[in-house]
Amino acid sequence: MALNGLRVGVEPCGMVADGDAFVAGEMERCEADFAVLAVTHEAEAAVDRGYFILSEVVVKTSQHAYCVLGRASTWGDSDLLSMELQLAAYVGLKRVLAPELSASTNLASYARTLLALVSNTAGVPLVVRVRAAEGAWARWNRVRMLCGHQVRLQVALELGDDACDLSQWRAEPVQLIVLPTRMFVGNAAGYPVLRKDHQAEIKRWMDHAVAYVIRQSEEDESVDLIDYVRYLRFLAGTLEDPSAAAAASAEYRDVLQAPLQPLMDHLESATYETFEMDLPKYDHYEHAMMRAIQDSPQKEIVLMVVGAGRGPLVTRALRAARQAGRAVQVIAIEKNPSALVELQLRNANDWGHQVTLIRADMRGWVPTQRADILVSELLGSFGDNELSPECLDAACRLLLAPRGVCIPQSYAAYVAPLSSTLLHARAQAYGDGHGLETPYVVNIHAAHILAEPQLMWSFSHTQPSDQIAGDNRHNQRWATATFRVQSPSLVHGLAGYFDAVLYGNVELSIRPDTHTEDMHSWFPMYFPIKQPMTASPGDELTVHMWRRSRESRTWYEWAVESAGREASSASSLIHNINAHEYWIGH
Ligand SMILES: C[S@@+](CC[C@H](N)C(=O)[O-])C[C@H]1O[C@@H](n2cnc3c(N)ncnc32)[C@H](O)[C@@H]1O
Repeated sequence: MALNGLRVGVEPCGMVADGDAFVAGEMERCEADFAVLAVTHEAEAAVDRGYFILSEVVVKTSQHAYCVLGRASTWGDSDLLSMELQLAAYVGLKRVLAPELSASTNLASYARTLLALVSNTAGVPLVVRVRAAEGAWARWNRVRMLCGHQVRLQVALELGDDACDLSQWRAEPVQLIVLPTRMFVGNAAGYPVLRKDHQAEIKRWMDHAVAYVIRQSEEDESVDLIDYVRYLRFLAGTLEDPSAAAAASAEYRDVLQAPLQPLMDHLESATYETFEMDLPKYDHYEHAMMRAIQDSPQKEIVLMVVGAGRGPLVTRALRAARQAGRAVQVIAIEKNPSALVELQLRNANDWGHQVTLIRADMRGWVPTQRADILVSELLGSFGDNELSPECLDAACRLLLAPRGVCIPQSYAAYVAPLSSTLLHARAQAYGDGHGLETPYVVNIHAAHILAEPQLMWSFSHTQPSDQIAGDNRHNQRWATATFRVQSPSLVHGLAGYFDAVLYGNVELSIRPDTHTEDMHSWFPMYFPIKQPMTASPGDELTVHMWRRSRESRTWYEWAVESAGREASSASSLIHNINAHEYWIGH
């Protein structure tokens, strides 16, 4: 019944006597995927008795467990509550809704009840119901802090009449969006529809794997819920199809990946194959190479592809030469012996043996001739994190002075503070408790980026060089940037991005505001912080970041400090000091 994966449930007003009958009859009639029903009839007598009698129970069998979202009938009597949750777990309910966390709730005792229940690992996850309004996020934040960031706490966000900015909720474990029927207005034909601003908000959430609940308001006791359910499905049908790139990246949403180490490790063919599917990236490279070939004063141009992999840049270099109508000798250098086999195959089948193939580490290879154009793609999600600076320092010896051209000419790293309960929980679970002092490559989705990314540092390769630098100290960096927070937030770390100038005005970027269209080779970086930090509107967050290098290792260290308007301040640890959790090998 779910359309495009959209799950719509109904929550009838008043008490339902028999849950199983409701699911089989009314819920199915109104084309809902599930119903929100109280688990029992708040049967206090059950506590003394030690069990529920049949008439006290709403959802009686496990037959409909997937179609029912349980609701706690009580919150005051903790013995009754735990009996109710035990029954919910027995019947197989996947989660249970706690009562609303409102302005009048005693947060400490609410949190205590929650924590006592979710600490029992046999129990079902609990969903905290909150109304999206001023102060709601701060209440939720306090409760989840009191509960020690328990991952089995989730959120049901009920929208109201007020239009308010919900972006901070995208960083939270929101499972349900609750829409009371009174939020809807009648259209010309009398059917329920949402206001334009609510429509836009709901459509934004439709990209966030949440389920929807139509909650029947008391004054709407007699309305037919089928019209509301159908309307939501209609709204989902009006969503634009995602681009091919977005569809390809969707399965990686919020999946943490260890950054590649293509210098230290030899990549596998399947990894190269994934790179090669990103046509926009190679289109930009081809364009940059063509421009550089056109601009070259040489009669016979020597173009070296350093780190050629399976050869996609070689193919593009040959095409660029043809388009520019110039004679170009192409030399491909690659250190991975297995990739070299594939390069030989392509040279025979596709390139007419016109490419010179060299198996070598570009840092030590001694050429017999110099290059006019040196092309590489050694960029990571943070620009320099796959050691492009270290490799190109040495490779620039291969360039003909003074006019040799390096593609890319430069690249820069950026960071922005980020809030994401999900990413933080996943980092914490990663690597056996060592996961919070190491960066990840991740298609960041369930997150709120708290400010515009700012420049950390850049590397430039505009000068051919004649020497291999001795130590690597010139590639060390230290940067500090200050961000002003707009909404109350819990900072879980930093998002990292890069952009690069390939040649002239041909650029690549993964920064959100300048992202190269449809390019999907690079997801952003996530640098977690061990202890999430609360920030209020107007607070300043200062990020310190270091790129350090010693012997055959390069690594990042990072820290976040916050300064509030009322002279409050907090500092994170300096993470990954001396590369104790993460480094990149030369
Ligand atoms: C990110 S891959 C890019 C491959 C290819 N150019 C492409 O676009 O699909 C980087 C390649 O550079 C190679 N590489 C990295 N460091 C190198 C070095 N110092 N010398 C030679 N090859 C290197 C790796 O083995 C890998 O094949």
